[in-house]
Amino acid sequence: MRILITGGAGCLGSNLCERYLEAGHDVLVLDNLATGHLGSLPGGHPRLAIMEGSVADRSTVGRAFTAFRPTHVIHAAAAYKDPGDWIEDTRTNVEGTIHVVDAARAAGIARLVNFHTALGYGRPDRIPIPVDAPARPFTSYGISKQAGEDYLAMSGLPFASLRLANVTGPRLAIGPIPTFYTRLKAGKSCFCSRTVRDFVDMEDFFAVMDLAMADGAPTGRFNVSTGTGHTIREIYAIVADHLGLRPAPEAAEVEPGADDVPAVVLDPSETTARLGWRPRYTFADTVRRTLAWYDRHGVTAIYSHLSVPAAAPSAAE
Ligand SMILES: NC(=O)c1ccc[n+]([C@@H]2O[C@H](COP(=O)([O-])OP(=O)(O)OC[C@H]3O[C@@H](n4cnc5c(N)ncnc54)[C@H](O)[C@@H]3O)[C@@H](O)[C@H]2O)c1
Repeated sequence: MRILITGGAGCLGSNLCERYLEAGHDVLVLDNLATGHLGSLPGGHPRLAIMEGSVADRSTVGRAFTAFRPTHVIHAAAAYKDPGDWIEDTRTNVEGTIHVVDAARAAGIARLVNFHTALGYGRPDRIPIPVDAPARPFTSYGISKQAGEDYLAMSGLPFASLRLANVTGPRLAIGPIPTFYTRLKAGKSCFCSRTVRDFVDMEDFFAVMDLAMADGAPTGRFNVSTGTGHTIREIYAIVADHLGLRPAPEAAEVEPGADDVPAVVLDPSETTARLGWRPRYTFADTVRRTLAWYDRHGVTAIYSHLSVPAAAPSAAE
């Protein structure tokens, strides 16, 4: 495959880049480095090309398609780091997605895989959230990502839009796991927001990607999750234990912020039925595997799309 990965210098994009290069494919990363890092990519790899630029710029996207001639597209670029910046979120998540989808259609690509956030469901009526639950996003990130996904769904392209639980693994720099790890290691206090989230291991994410990228795979929207929710306090306990802090230092519980959702757990049953995917890793294994990676490589910058204080980490999705 010749795979164009937008946002390829980010957490998911760089993990996929590494994996597809290892499997012998050609990769072009298009990234504006808003939250991604060139250092996450295998520099000098003969089958990797890197283009620094924004998907919001239609001519840049056009150049990427003309120069690289991708057969497959993974659209991982997304803006979220300033929850008040509706303009940037709209430029990247709506206009940028339109540019990528239009260019992919003109190029006749074989598959486009898009990533969507559970925030598209807004405050759900029931947990776990079925994939056909209504879209009711209420944040700049959620609304703009939903608009992008809806445009893709109307495009006629062979696509899969993966609605992701918190994908957890190497280079994860968002949410409670890296936040607790960094703060506890520095001897700082933590708060746990009273929220429930679902987590999926990077290896299980790779497995669903293989199924979603396959020629002839079903088109549509898919929840990617274990279907099981866990409290932020459970994560805190695992991180403290991993760092040898026994008993764990006190951590007060705080109510979720106004732009947060108390419980987000996606129902993966349709994904199992349509793609044949089942997650293999347990929650505790997933968190511990990520902490072991931090021990070896450290944590990079921590961003959040939530406007909650940094001292009150919550999950980001
Ligand atoms: N990681 C998760 O668990 C998770 C959960 C739900 C959804 N997602 C979605 O998955 C995708 C990847 O997320 P991630 O966790 O790797 O985040 P990330 O911030 O690490 O990656 C996003 C990448 O997009 C790049 N980018 C931002 N604006 C751009 C623009 N205008 N043009 C080109 N590149 C741009 C950033 O520099 C970054 O490298 C996003 O679409 C996100 O909405 C991720």
